[in-house]
Parts: sequence; structure tokens; C-alpha cells
Amino acid sequence: MADEHLRRSGIDRAVHGPWAVIAGGSEGVGAKLADRIAARGIHLFLVARKPGPLAATADRVARVHGVQVRTLAGDLLDPDVVQRIRDETAGLDVGTFIYNAGANTYGAEFVEGDLDAFQKVVDLNVNRQLELTRHFGARLKKRGRGALVLVGSLSGYVGHAGISTYAAAKAFERVFAEGLWVELRPHGVQVLHPILGVTRTPAMERLGLRMDLPGLDVADPGDIAEEILARLDDGPVQAVGGNDARVQRSSGPDRARLVTEVAEGMRAMSPR
Ligand SMILES: NC(=O)c1ccc[n+]([C@@H]2O[C@H](COP(=O)([O-])OP(=O)(O)OC[C@H]3O[C@@H](n4cnc5c(N)ncnc54)[C@H](OP(=O)(O)O)[C@@H]3O)[C@@H](O)[C@H]2O)c1
Repeated sequence: MADEHLRRSGIDRAVHGPWAVIAGGSEGVGAKLADRIAARGIHLFLVARKPGPLAATADRVARVHGVQVRTLAGDLLDPDVVQRIRDETAGLDVGTFIYNAGANTYGAEFVEGDLDAFQKVVDLNVNRQLELTRHFGARLKKRGRGALVLVGSLSGYVGHAGISTYAAAKAFERVFAEGLWVELRPHGVQVLHPILGVTRTPAMERLGLRMDLPGLDVADPGDIAEEILARLDDGPVQAVGGNDARVQRSSGPDRARLVTEVAEGMRAMSPR
């Protein structure tokens, strides 16, 4: 039975519905995932901080696709948020859990930066993700079908100056997803850690990163969402947005050369 579910490709209401939960589902890739999932008739539970974009995405998706959309406006860094999500989704038959929130919020050289701010990056990308994945993963295993998607980054392949904790947290997510995949696959639960490169999301635009540099490929969030959902069965780790060659390069043995090159590339992208 489990194998039969896993052979299916793409998103399917019978396997991945009737409800999907997206932690970070109001903007960028999260909003596009919400849209594509709802197009399959799957109801949504969306979490994000800013009530305005969250309500706008929820209203649009519900109106266009005729599904139910529930929202929780809250910060994943708040101590009570996991319990609130657990309580508010307790009565929903959840077939898909996506942890998308996680773009870097703080940049500084590690020994000069604010340790609390670095720890928040780790809390968002590691601790909160573990707590919610533990909760929804157990529910999916019991159910015997569904998917967990933990959104990753090319940054998780190489140490990055200025965002060293973010890159390390993304590396943690990737290796964690691999272990989870092998544990849950026999139980009919797909685990996918899609590797994103630079993607034109509102969070990136707010940071003011230069996305017009020659040779820089910038992905469209809608294309990324489409590819993630098409590749749910290609876990545990899958480069999306044409980043396979970059993943290969970033996994090379000459670490000193790689981290130095990446640091130069990051300097070029920084806001002027
Ligand atoms: N954009 C890129 O270039 C890029 C590249 C590689 C990997 N990624 C990965 O892609 C994912 C999405 O990134 P993104 O650029 O769209 O930015 P993001 O800041 O992670 O925002 C994505 C969604 O998460 C919500 N969110 C962010 N922080 C939250 C928090 N503390 N509590 C609750 N919700 C929160 C945002 O809404 P609110 O702001 O309203 O909370 C939004 O709906 C991340 O995991 C990131 O690491 C992005």
C-alpha cells in the first residue's frame, strides 16, 4: 500500500490532502505553494507573521480555488506557537506539512555579532522545524501516507561569511531530511528537501540584494513551487531551479577555494 502511494508523482488530494499545513505560507514560494496545492482541491492551514499578506494570500487562494483556508498569524520564534499550531490543526486530516519559513534575518561576522540574533536563525531553521516535523511526521506515519517538505538552500553546502549560522542551519536541515526520508519512506510518507538558489521573493527584495548581476540566475517563486510539488517523490534531497551543477560544484573537496569564491560572490550581491 505504502509503495503504491510513493509511486505516484506530483501532488494528489487522496495522498497529500485533504489538508496541507504551510509554516511560512503567505509570501514568495510559500504563497505559490499554497496556490498550487489549493488548485488540487486541498484545504490549507497557513502560518506567517504579518497578518496583511497572510490574509491576502488566504482570501485569494480560497476565492480562486474554492477551498477552505485557515490562518494563524504568529511568529514561529514565539515559545507558544508550536502548541497553537498543534491545537488549531488537531481536528484536520493533514496530508502535507511544509516548513518554508527560514530566510536569513541577520548578517554579521560571527565573533562580532549578536549571539541572540544568531540563535534566532538557528531556532527558526532548526529547533522550530524539528518540533513541528516531529508532530506532523508522527501524524503522517500513523496515517500511512502524505509528504513532508523542508525547504532548503544552496547555502547549506558551503560555509558563508556573514551568514555562517544560516548556512550551517541549512546544512543541518539537509542531513536531517535524509535521515527522516529513510525512516518514513517504508510508511508511505515522502520527505523532500528541495535546494533553492537565489529566488525572487519579497523577503529577498526587502533585503535589497542585487539580483541583476551578470551570470546570476534568479528563480521565479511560482516555477520553484511547481517543481517542488512535481518532485515530491524525488527525495530526500533535490536541487530545483536548475541548480544541480551548483550543488555538484559546492560539494567539491577544495573547501578553502569554495568558501573563498562564495564569499566573493556574496560581496558582489550585497546592497550597495
Ligand atoms: N529567496 C531565496 O533567494 C532563497 C534561496 C535559498 C533558499 N531559500 C529558502 O526558501 C525559504 C523561503 O524563503 P523566502 O525568501 O520566501 O523568505 P522567508 O522570510 O523565509 O519567508 C517565507 C514565508 O515565511 C514567513 N515567515 C518568515 N519568518 C517567519 C517567522 N519567524 N514566523 C512565521 N512565519 C515566518 C513569511 O511571512 P512573514 O514574513 O509575514 O512572517 C513568508 O510567508 C526559506 O527556507 C529560505 O531559506 C530562499
